[in-house]
Amino acid sequence: MSTTPMQVRCDVKNPDLAELGKKRIDWANQSMNVMQIIRKDFIKNQPLKGVRISACLHVTAETANLAICLRDGGADVVLCASNPLSTQDDVAASLVRDYNIPVFAIKGEDNDTYYQHILAAIDHRPQITMDDGADLVSILHTKRTDMLEDVIGGTEETTTGVIRLRAMAKEGVLRYPIIAVNDADTKHLFDNRYGTGQSTIDGIIRATNFLLAGSKFVVAGYGWCGRGLASRARGAGAEVIVTEVDPTKALEAVMDGFRVMSMIEAARMGDVFCTVTGNKNVLTKEHFEVMKNGAIIANSGHFNVEIDIPSLEKMASSKRMTRNFVEEYSMRDGRKINLLGEGRLINLASAEGHPPSVMDMSFADQAFSVEYMVKNHARLEKTVYTVPAELDKRVAKLKLESMGIKIDRLTPEQEEYLGGWAEGT
Ligand SMILES: NC(=O)c1ccc[n+]([C@@H]2O[C@H](COP(=O)([O-])OP(=O)(O)OC[C@H]3O[C@@H](n4cnc5c(N)ncnc54)[C@H](O)[C@@H]3O)[C@@H](O)[C@H]2O)c1
Repeated sequence: MSTTPMQVRCDVKNPDLAELGKKRIDWANQSMNVMQIIRKDFIKNQPLKGVRISACLHVTAETANLAICLRDGGADVVLCASNPLSTQDDVAASLVRDYNIPVFAIKGEDNDTYYQHILAAIDHRPQITMDDGADLVSILHTKRTDMLEDVIGGTEETTTGVIRLRAMAKEGVLRYPIIAVNDADTKHLFDNRYGTGQSTIDGIIRATNFLLAGSKFVVAGYGWCGRGLASRARGAGAEVIVTEVDPTKALEAVMDGFRVMSMIEAARMGDVFCTVTGNKNVLTKEHFEVMKNGAIIANSGHFNVEIDIPSLEKMASSKRMTRNFVEEYSMRDGRKINLLGEGRLINLASAEGHPPSVMDMSFADQAFSVEYMVKNHARLEKTVYTVPAELDKRVAKLKLESMGIKIDRLTPEQEEYLGGWAEGT
């Protein structure tokens, strides 16, 4: 850890990258119109005045704009990474140099450093926590319970984090209320689907320069991320195969026009495999055993446990890095299997994560949720809440307005009709 000339505590890779990071933050800001509106309001009304926030999020240009917005709303924000490979080091440097926001995050940090950085963010004595995957909340509830005293509430960004927090609430161990930002319509319908869909394809292509047209692309999981990814892969000309464990989701994939089969069948056919399930060991030894020579395997789910990497390590006679983010495993029978980005979120490891215009909505939900939590925490239980419907709708409305799109309004007659039962044929 170090301090900068401005005495901002931080641990970033290289402060000299700040200039590049600043440009990247500005570029993202241009497509984050809803956040610009919220920021103006926050500057004027200071709804977060003096509130200490510890945020554990992917340190990207879009997140930088959220952190700046919270700071401008009066908050005292520190930021650490929510994944060891997702940090944009130039953005981290600029946040420290240009915005006086302490950041603890270095792309490629090892697991120990990753957790030290979370602990550094917790040392800030947060009143509000913002998490993406619930690692910060988990550490706070296990190793740093002394810091729980001041916490009034939190927010959670992603599906996997919400699942973990609901499990904590069910066990009765969650010590403060948390808003599941992921569950807002204006978050998962757009960020998970269109954001993950596009940026995962981007990550796979940047890492490999592989031609998707004519390839067999296997998507594991047909949830919000999976359906976005499947439709984008099809758009690029791939023949898409979906694997699922949920019969309804599998049926949806069938009727959306995809081939659906078990992973053991798909494993023999696929050229590219991408897991987006939020589950563990989705691609395992039995699948690696039958994969084609040259198969590419990647993950875009939250944790790097969707691909059973320890088995792959055991099965391989050797491995080498053939390109940035491409590790070639040589199997004993001579086949090669290419693992991308250490099995971590490929859209953030080898690409830049979601485009700013979709993060605009997710982070508008975050900003509104923090403001809501500050105002309402006293009457909330120690459990997981959804984003209040009126805030969710406000984000959609503001986004449409920022796109210059007008929609119709219900007439009083229509409102009455929709609210009644008396009128029939
Ligand atoms: N890469 C990113 O930037 C990004 C963005 C948002 C969410 N995520 C993460 O992606 C993961 C998926 O999120 P989501 O919102 O799509 O979740 P979701 O719950 O909507 O979908 C997950 C799907 O995976 C299926 N599944 C579970 N186990 C499976 C298995 N063994 N084989 C095949 N399918 C299986 C489930 O039935 C479900 O349909 C989560 O870990 C989430 O946190 C990543």
